Amino acid sequence: MNDFHYRNNELWCEEVPLKAIARKVGTPTYVYSRHTLERHFSVFDEAFEKIDHLVCFAVKSNSNVAILRIFAREGGGVDIVSGGELYRALQAGVDPGKVVYSGVGKRVDEIEFALEAGILLFNVESLQELEVIDACAGRLGKKAPIALRVNPDVDPQTHPYISTGLKENKFGINVKKSLEAYRQARNLPNVEIKGVSCHIGSQLTKISPFVDALKRLKRLVSLLRKEGIRIRYLDLGGGLGITYREEEPPHPSDYARAIIKTAKDLDVTFIFEPGRVIVGNAGILLTKVLYTKTNDDKRFIVVDAGMNDLIRPSLYSSYHGIQPVLKSRRETATADVVGPICESGDYLAKGRDLPLFERNELMAVMSAGAYGFTMSSNYNSRPRAAEVLVDGNRISVIRKRETYRDLVRGERIPEFLSE
Ligand code: LLP
Repeated sequence: MNDFHYRNNELWCEEVPLKAIARKVGTPTYVYSRHTLERHFSVFDEAFEKIDHLVCFAVKSNSNVAILRIFAREGGGVDIVSGGELYRALQAGVDPGKVVYSGVGKRVDEIEFALEAGILLFNVESLQELEVIDACAGRLGKKAPIALRVNPDVDPQTHPYISTGLKENKFGINVKKSLEAYRQARNLPNVEIKGVSCHIGSQLTKISPFVDALKRLKRLVSLLRKEGIRIRYLDLGGGLGITYREEEPPHPSDYARAIIKTAKDLDVTFIFEPGRVIVGNAGILLTKVLYTKTNDDKRFIVVDAGMNDLIRPSLYSSYHGIQPVLKSRRETATADVVGPICESGDYLAKGRDLPLFERNELMAVMSAGAYGFTMSSNYNSRPRAAEVLVDGNRISVIRKRETYRDLVRGERIPEFLSE
């Protein structure tokens, strides 16, 4: 359920017609619904109300500070993977005590930043990283709260690029070696073992891989407890999928029921790191048709958003729904929706049966709230899109469209080129 809907054949976000946003802010523009964001967050959060838990929104899926503020106001924490994401979270007013930090390549300066901020948990992904965190904490006179990110070796049955919990993936510490890793961690003077964590992949549409991963983690927790290692937190990561087209992912409450049942009497605080399931269908990319053309019988709709704005179709052949902002009775034909970028891979939709769009017409690329703006770039020197948050009948530009000046910010012509 989301708040993008047709009224008299016109697409609206909450109480605002998208046409009005295009008029005011231009295109391409990401548009998010505050109401959908809040509802998705609370549905997920409330699904786990029977157990001790903390929802840490995955910043990588959408890192706009206004969006992060929405979840902070709901009492949520965040999952970060870089110093930059920590900076954003703090700017947004997220409680540092609700921040968990994952990622295989944490730099020393990033670890120090997180220690100074006083985050809840480092999800440590290797023994070397563990030693570096211990040394950093020692230098700063702090104890680093840690969990080891265990790679449980379960198949998430998703796109190979976004599966992370198989033993051949780069993430985490092999579950078989994790007990030994915890023993090593216990001997380090400046780390405090607080939990175990895993994240097995993204856009999962089945519950069973999550349950399998939890079972493996449970086994590990009981082995650790036998050795006197106290585990307070169990972080199950993110990964719950959404409907882009015809997928039928479990509802968060079904997911929660299965997790709660499997957890049984495990005495821990659960941490979840959802991203996509919260923001994916709470945002769209609003774009305008620049041209329509046919090449050798193939129809193309050229729009003003490209792979630099939304790279998911080019990168993963992902499907995003395409909707006209103004619906009218007209013929349909098979077409590709493509951007202005100089690459054949620059497309938003391929071989779709679409209404005969016209020049200057507005189009909504659906389900673009997660991994949309955050993966955008300036390729082809295209200023990045604006972002707008809708709240009832109000709109707010939560990120200005970039300007040409923004494109060259920080660049400089060296003196030896002026000689
Ligand atoms: N926690 C960790 C440690 C992660 O690596 C991820 C996503 C998440 C949580 C959030 O997963 P989610 O609930 O959003 O599935 N760019 C790809 C997705 C990459 C996901 C990477 N990790 C895409 O556009 O589909």
